[in-house]
Amino acid sequence: MDKLLLYNCSQIVTPKGSHIKKGKEMDQVEVMQNASIYMEDGIILFLGANEEVLHRLGAAYIEQIPGDIMVIDGAGRTALPGFVDSHTHFIFGGYREVEFMERLSGASYLDIMRKGGGIQSTVNATRSYGEDRLFADGRNRLHDMLSQGVTTVEGKSGYGLDLACEEKQLRVMKELNKVHPVEIVSTYLGAHAVPLEYKNDPAGYVTYMVEVVMPKVKEKNLAEFCDVFCEEEAFDTEQSRFLLTEAKKMGFEIKIHADEIYDLGGGRLAAELGAASADHLLMISEESMAALAESETVASVLPCTAFCLNKPFAPAKKMIESGCGLALATDFNPGSSFTNSIPLMLSLAVLKMGMTLPQALTALTLNGAAALKRADKIGTLEAGKQGDIVLLEYPDYRFLIYHTAKNIVHSVIKNGHLVYKKEES
Ligand code: NIG
Ligand code: FE
Repeated sequence: MDKLLLYNCSQIVTPKGSHIKKGKEMDQVEVMQNASIYMEDGIILFLGANEEVLHRLGAAYIEQIPGDIMVIDGAGRTALPGFVDSHTHFIFGGYREVEFMERLSGASYLDIMRKGGGIQSTVNATRSYGEDRLFADGRNRLHDMLSQGVTTVEGKSGYGLDLACEEKQLRVMKELNKVHPVEIVSTYLGAHAVPLEYKNDPAGYVTYMVEVVMPKVKEKNLAEFCDVFCEEEAFDTEQSRFLLTEAKKMGFEIKIHADEIYDLGGGRLAAELGAASADHLLMISEESMAALAESETVASVLPCTAFCLNKPFAPAKKMIESGCGLALATDFNPGSSFTNSIPLMLSLAVLKMGMTLPQALTALTLNGAAALKRADKIGTLEAGKQGDIVLLEYPDYRFLIYHTAKNIVHSVIKNGHLVYKKEES
């Protein structure tokens, strides 16, 4: 049996519970001082004040702990639940630096897409990459995420569009999940763009996904979620509704890229269909906000995307005041958000979007877990949850934003094992 004691942390800070936190509830995080966490076989058995935890292990002093328990010293450090990056597109071929510069000179994201660039250019590159290359790049990106405290990441397909390349992307994630400590949750996003082959027949492409690709993805157990880019130049509300309804019938959980550039009512649609999350929401309407607040659907905001596209942020503060439950994710992808920076995201959320630090922490942990239908297993530090823990270099969680846009992760525990430790300089 694997036994691990994380002893004498300056702080343990965590939201609590196994469900989405909405509105004011997002502020409720527990702060324990001088506290410890005990795990067996990857699961948290108990946590609390140092003396209490020692006592439950039959010891009065740390020196009396049985020899088969591995001890990690938490002195001077803050323990937080492992971060959940619940929206990324981290498996892709090629880069789009030219397009980034074109945007800086005034071209819009949709203009570039209309001219055959954007997502389609990453599709061309991803189709040309072998599985080994996608795997090697994916592994490097996962290492980088882990070093920033990410213990669970969602990854989408959507840069293949045809059956072979969508399966390739999803297979690469499945293989990476076997060998890398960061847990990967896969999403089929065939409805990311209409591929060139179907340029004049978008309805035919929707039929192809529903009749050919989705049954295969399901049969091979390559994805848990199905997502749609509901947007002008991509898929309209009716196509999105149809595709996601069919996906639900096949047993997929569902998500929507909603109201990013135009408000097509994607937020409302996500609530109506019982989606796990509606993501982006830069242009969310009052109506969609009210619908999401009434629902169990997580409203995922992706500040790095708004930042990189130079667009106004989603109205996070107003959404929380309206009673929505927000998650924060990076949207890491080669186009609209070529950054996986957790520190930048937290700084933007708090300094620019008006979220409080406890709200941002809840959004990056428990609500991120809810967006992946895993709030019963991860997202908080409580008895019965997975031992997924981030240790910060500092003794107080407020350094997360005070040390602005800086990675202050010292080490990471996944499933009760130390899987990352920053090299001391
Ligand atoms: O979430 N908006 C659609 N999909 C991605 C961008 C993908 C890309 O530009 O390659 C997003 O922003
Ligand atoms: Fe996205």
